[in-house]
Amino acid sequence: MICKSIKIKTFRNIKEASIEFSDGVNVIKGLNAQGKTNLLEAINLISTGRPFRRATDADLIMHGEQQAEVELAYKTRSFSSSVRYVIDRTKGKTLYKRKQEQKKISHVFGYFRTVLFCPAHLSIVQDGPAVRRAWIDMFLSQTYFFYLKQLQSYNKLLQQRNALLKEMRSSLQPQDFYRSFSLSERFPESTVALLETFSLQLADASAKISDLRYKHLCRIAPILDSFYERITADYPLKEKIELRYVSNAYANGIETFDPDAYRAVMETPDEVMTSPREMAIREKYLSLFKTYAIREIRSGTSGFGCHRDEIEIYLNGTEARTFASQGQQRTIALAMKLAEGQLAYEMTDDHPVFLLDDILSELDEKRKAFVLGELKGCQVIITSCETIDRQVIDASPSVRVIRAENGAFTVEK
Ligand SMILES: Nc1ncnc2c1ncn2[C@@H]1O[C@H](COP(=O)(O)OP(=O)(O)O)[C@@H](O)[C@H]1O
Ligand SMILES: [Mg+2]
Repeated sequence: MICKSIKIKTFRNIKEASIEFSDGVNVIKGLNAQGKTNLLEAINLISTGRPFRRATDADLIMHGEQQAEVELAYKTRSFSSSVRYVIDRTKGKTLYKRKQEQKKISHVFGYFRTVLFCPAHLSIVQDGPAVRRAWIDMFLSQTYFFYLKQLQSYNKLLQQRNALLKEMRSSLQPQDFYRSFSLSERFPESTVALLETFSLQLADASAKISDLRYKHLCRIAPILDSFYERITADYPLKEKIELRYVSNAYANGIETFDPDAYRAVMETPDEVMTSPREMAIREKYLSLFKTYAIREIRSGTSGFGCHRDEIEIYLNGTEARTFASQGQQRTIALAMKLAEGQLAYEMTDDHPVFLLDDILSELDEKRKAFVLGELKGCQVIITSCETIDRQVIDASPSVRVIRAENGAFTVEK
């Protein structure tokens, strides 16, 4: 996969830019706040359909302007294409593929693939569960459009159900918080029915999402372990990484990867999302919603569902989040990103474009050399505010250095 060129207009601090990329390593260098990360964000927007920092589409439009525009031309092993993404403050977004306006966004996303690695990802092991779920969700959303849709409808549904639970909470009597009551004596039939409908839909969506996340972990776990092993090859002790998917829908809370379960999961095609495992999870959620309805109403929030799932990372049998050293945690984070790229390669027969935002200066010499070695043969776009070291220049026969200054970009080499 190659990002051939990009044209940008009034996107964040970039007034106008037109950049041709090298097939190898591209270094975007410049002082702070010049627009380096903004450029990566524009590239990533075309692969994921959304900004990567907690931002809305409108935040991407340059202050005082009406529209932002990004047009990216890319090439895969089998075809070339271009996507134009226009965001208007009043009209919202419009998408074009090869100049043709597209109504179905599923026709636009999922073809041009990136792996984004920024300093925030280095704490993926010690941060809360949301960032580890996001690691999976981002991959699956780029791989399967139906997953992205499912996730979006899940979030909407969760908001609706939480709003209903809050509303129900507000009509409780003080004694309802410690004394038991039945739903039918406190709430109108229509309210109880609506809660049931939401619960059913949430159980359904949770089961689908959780099943596919589990399957993804089955695929990525051995790749992750092997990257970790290679990065730490010169360590005296061999360290083994395991992943666990933890959910309140599992009988004992945890599902690990026993080979039989693994085989059964892998034999179900991804698009057929009604595996026996999925059905069992759905049933479990339904029974949890039934059993704990009053508790959920008292707290005014949904206590169960795949938004509560956790991906635990174990290093030699102990949880890395609590027991691994900072160095080990960062190595795991690095292995997670490389594994993401490798799995994308295995599934699509094409390397994704790697976007490294200020990451090389965060790594020591050994890890830096490992990353650059691994990414030989891939297109890499790196931002850096430091002088570019020899290692990077030597990493590829085709290095392009692009200077960022106040939202403008010029090729230096
Ligand atoms: N919508 C916007 N309109 C104008 N400027 C913006 C907008 N969003 C962010 N910026 C500016 O972009 C700059 C940050 O650019 P960034 O790409 O993060 O810098 P860096 O080169 O350090 O990676 C900041 O000065 C910020 O104020
Ligand atoms: Mg930056």
